[in-house]
Amino acid sequence: MPKIAVAEGDGIGKDVVPVATRVLATVRPDLEFFPVEVGYGRWERTGEAITSAEIGAMKEADAVLFGAVTTPPDLDYRSVVVRIRKELDLYANVRPVRGGDADLVIVRENTEGLYSGIEEIGPDRATTLRLITRRGSERIARFACSLAGDRRHLTIGHKANVLKSDTLFREVCIGVAKESGVSFREKFIDALCLDLLQHPQDYDVIVTENMFGDILSDVAAYLVGGLGMLPSANIGDRSSLFEPVHGSAPKHAGKNTANPIAAIRSGAMLLDHLGDGENGARIEEAIGKALASGVKTRDLGGTAGTKEMGDAIIAALLLDIP
Ligand code: NAI
Ligand code: MG
Repeated sequence: MPKIAVAEGDGIGKDVVPVATRVLATVRPDLEFFPVEVGYGRWERTGEAITSAEIGAMKEADAVLFGAVTTPPDLDYRSVVVRIRKELDLYANVRPVRGGDADLVIVRENTEGLYSGIEEIGPDRATTLRLITRRGSERIARFACSLAGDRRHLTIGHKANVLKSDTLFREVCIGVAKESGVSFREKFIDALCLDLLQHPQDYDVIVTENMFGDILSDVAAYLVGGLGMLPSANIGDRSSLFEPVHGSAPKHAGKNTANPIAAIRSGAMLLDHLGDGENGARIEEAIGKALASGVKTRDLGGTAGTKEMGDAIIAALLLDIP
């Protein structure tokens, strides 16, 4: 019985994750879910957003389903997601963008770059160090190439013309691509953002360092109807965590208005990762059917609530069960 740690987090995480677990339980009644409390709400209540107990519970689980957490721009507050990604060494952030003209995957390095947490804050000067290592670049390049191998080609997004740290990232990615026999090209990240929107069909697997991939995936959400649609996987050698690309969207929290599809798709990626690609694909198909029947949340131009969107997807799944 696979054990799934469920961290709803804050804001709409509490709205979309219960819908995603309901969908997962429909296709896999054997999954054992256990809750893990993390986030800003917990910090306000107890002074700690996450402790080593939650990190330990996530490490023991077969996979983690995560919602979103609120991160205030407060010097004393350390981002929960960034800490989890580092402590579980979830080095590959995989963000598939499918729909319309797009069928691509953004592979974002998840442990270094500007999110390394090496910072100095003075009264008149503040710095954030952009750490790029050969080891970090090599493992993300290998991960991206192994995906590109099954697909068509790799695009390396970087800014090596300006950032010396990206010359290392670029060099390592090119080396790994050549060694793996993967066809590749490179693009400066700013030009890539526009080109991706204009010619999504030209992209397959895109690899970037941490922050560029973060920004690029929100940009790419435009291609498929917004942030409510985009799932992600955070993969390490020992642990994995699945979460929507979006954040806690406080203005939608608790109103039954958030789109649960990104969270549900993250659940489908979780099943896929646990070796159950069949049920992952069934969930994707049920999402397509529910949307085609006209049930849509407001961000997609419809009137359905979070729960009703989930009900329609579950209804489509149940119809499909022989
Ligand atoms: P956000 O992704 O939470 O929301 C941006 C906007 O996108 C929302 O105002 C909403 O209009 C739309 N949106 C996002 N998800 C949606 C959904 N499921 N259904 C319908 N509309 C949706 O980003 P924002 O506003 O920049 O950040 C809010 C909080 O979330 C911040 O505290 C931020 O630090 C945190 N955050 C957390 C992340 C995580 O837990 N992995 C990722 C990104 C932001
Ligand atoms: Mg982001």
